Amino acid sequence: MSDRLAEYEYFLHGGDYSPEQWKDSEITPEEDFYLQRLANCNTFTIGMFAWSDIEKEEGVFDFSLYDKVINMAYENGTRIILATPSGARPRWLAEKYPEVLRTRHDNVKEPFNTRHNHCFTSPVYREKVRIFNEKLAERYAGNPAVIAWHISNEYSFDCCCPLCIKAFREYLSKKFDNDIEKLNKEYCTSFWGHKYRSFEEIENPFNDSSIEGMLLDWRRFSSEQTVDFMNSEIRAIEKYGKDIPITTNMMPGYYHMDYTRFKNSVDMMSVDSYPQWNGPNHVDEAVNTAFWFSYFYNIKQKPFLLMESVPGAVSWRDVNKLKTNDTESLSAIQAIASGSDSVLYFQWRKSRGNYEKFHGAVVDHYGKEDTRIFRSVSNTGKLLEDIKEIKGATVKNGDIAILYDIESRWAFDESRGYSNKDKGYMKTCLDFYKYFWKNGIGTDVISKTDDFTKYKLVVLPMLYMTDESLSNKITDYVKNGGYVYANLVLGTVNENDLCYLGGIPAGELKNVFGIRNEEIDSLYDGDDYVTEYNGKNFSCSKYAEHLIPYEAKVLAEYTSEVFGKVPAVTVNEYGNGKAYYQAVYEESGLKESVLSSLIKELGIKPYIIFDAEKYKAVTACVRIKNKKEYMFVQNFGDIPAENVKVAGGWSDFFTGEKRYEISVNKNGYRILTRYVTDGE
Ligand code: GLA
Ligand code: ZN
Repeated sequence: MSDRLAEYEYFLHGGDYSPEQWKDSEITPEEDFYLQRLANCNTFTIGMFAWSDIEKEEGVFDFSLYDKVINMAYENGTRIILATPSGARPRWLAEKYPEVLRTRHDNVKEPFNTRHNHCFTSPVYREKVRIFNEKLAERYAGNPAVIAWHISNEYSFDCCCPLCIKAFREYLSKKFDNDIEKLNKEYCTSFWGHKYRSFEEIENPFNDSSIEGMLLDWRRFSSEQTVDFMNSEIRAIEKYGKDIPITTNMMPGYYHMDYTRFKNSVDMMSVDSYPQWNGPNHVDEAVNTAFWFSYFYNIKQKPFLLMESVPGAVSWRDVNKLKTNDTESLSAIQAIASGSDSVLYFQWRKSRGNYEKFHGAVVDHYGKEDTRIFRSVSNTGKLLEDIKEIKGATVKNGDIAILYDIESRWAFDESRGYSNKDKGYMKTCLDFYKYFWKNGIGTDVISKTDDFTKYKLVVLPMLYMTDESLSNKITDYVKNGGYVYANLVLGTVNENDLCYLGGIPAGELKNVFGIRNEEIDSLYDGDDYVTEYNGKNFSCSKYAEHLIPYEAKVLAEYTSEVFGKVPAVTVNEYGNGKAYYQAVYEESGLKESVLSSLIKELGIKPYIIFDAEKYKAVTACVRIKNKKEYMFVQNFGDIPAENVKVAGGWSDFFTGEKRYEISVNKNGYRILTRYVTDGE
């Protein structure tokens, strides 16, 4: 199968362009294509919000503007990412077929408003989208300018209409072998006497949110239903050929969707990324961004597209701070370093009215090329051309992986208990990631179905939910020589959020970690416990667990008012590997101290060596292509970083000079390259 995107030798650079917004104005597509060349852009993403312009009345289609733009793209050598329009439907559709409108958790049907609020179950919606998509594909799939299909836009949220609830019943009936007693048992519905007598009795799960296992299944179902809807969109497109790769744009940190379920439907992942640079949390934003890039990269283990980013500033934050010139390139390079094959913007031309009229764009309302942001975008375009040989390179796997598990997160968050306001899952994941990232250590964010065996260390942050297969996977990994580092609530419930009996962590994990976790204390703010590790004191907040060590060696202890002097960190040898357990939630440096000796023990080498105390956030990523490695070193700290040492064999990408030591400006980057030699 040919793949137009893979064959294109440039990084994609450009953005969302909505010619229909300018139809009745003096601004023509000719003008946009002219400016595009000046901005060193090569790609437009179009069609996302064009439905009501193309199909003004049901069944009456007018593609003339899009014919013009796509033909013009072909003539100009511009690449088109063509979106299906299901993110925003025409008014006539909602009026004529109200079933396409979404019903909220509180059973209120939404009126026609904004966008991204459709019923994904509705046969009418699916049918109308199918008709449109087929027309789109029939008309444009043969045009070589079209380089990717972009299915819909930021699929999100859920719908509780009768059609969706019926589909949910069917989903549950299938899951529980059409046996309502199985469901009752797994959802523990005898609690408060909420037993179901038949699947027909299942209603909107938010009507009775006491059944936590069902809420968890609702989230799984909603993700599945979204993917099912997307698959129906894709089938319509693929009727006219399969050589244009398919993607859909996803949101870092978005809570209501399990993106791992999209893996087999799309050819590559796409990410919309809007970090808040130049603010008080500059470094944390960088960590957060890198975390999600790694997560999306690893779902398909191949380059993704940065589908949206902002030139300048967004319009939806409390304070919409502009990017500076150096953070524009910092942002672009971070995406490329993390495995993106594009730098795309929302949006190309700033809309004239409404919701996003002040959202950053390459072309401002001013309309010409002599603006700071336009120059900055065009510099990024030049840079992307200079480094085009890196396009398509894979990201080198790190020695360490962090498991991010959305299902476990949902289950934990939805459970009453612990600290109800914020369970702390995301922060824990990011804290671990930050430690490795800030020290230039290659670290991958992975999902539970990924292969653990390529890593020396797998970190399991707050892995509250472990089903049998995940427990077995962890057990086998450690038995065969892997190291794991878990913290808090490990193996508390099964896949239906039923608590394990007989002690946690569940089953064999007790032997793997050599501990039993007897109870957990949730701490008031400021009510810290003190832990001692290697003669040094560290404070711990939020949670403290009471571990009973079986075989495990105690590495750190704390004095707790409730339990007395008990272990805070333990390690256990199991088979050929080791399992660490940290019983406290903390931010005072305890885990960093334990992890730093663990990294040494495992012989894990950072990509760069530098004074990490002084330069707070220097980091590195490596991509590989054709036996060549490309290392991106970036400095997110607030002063220039000097004397950053790199291992042997690296040369400056641009000058070819050999480098053993580099300096990196504040918000700056360096790109180095070397040939991969055997054994490296
Ligand atoms: C999302 C959407 C875009 C636009 C941007 C604004 O990512 O996909 O259409 O609204 O937000 O930041
Ligand atoms: Zn619905």
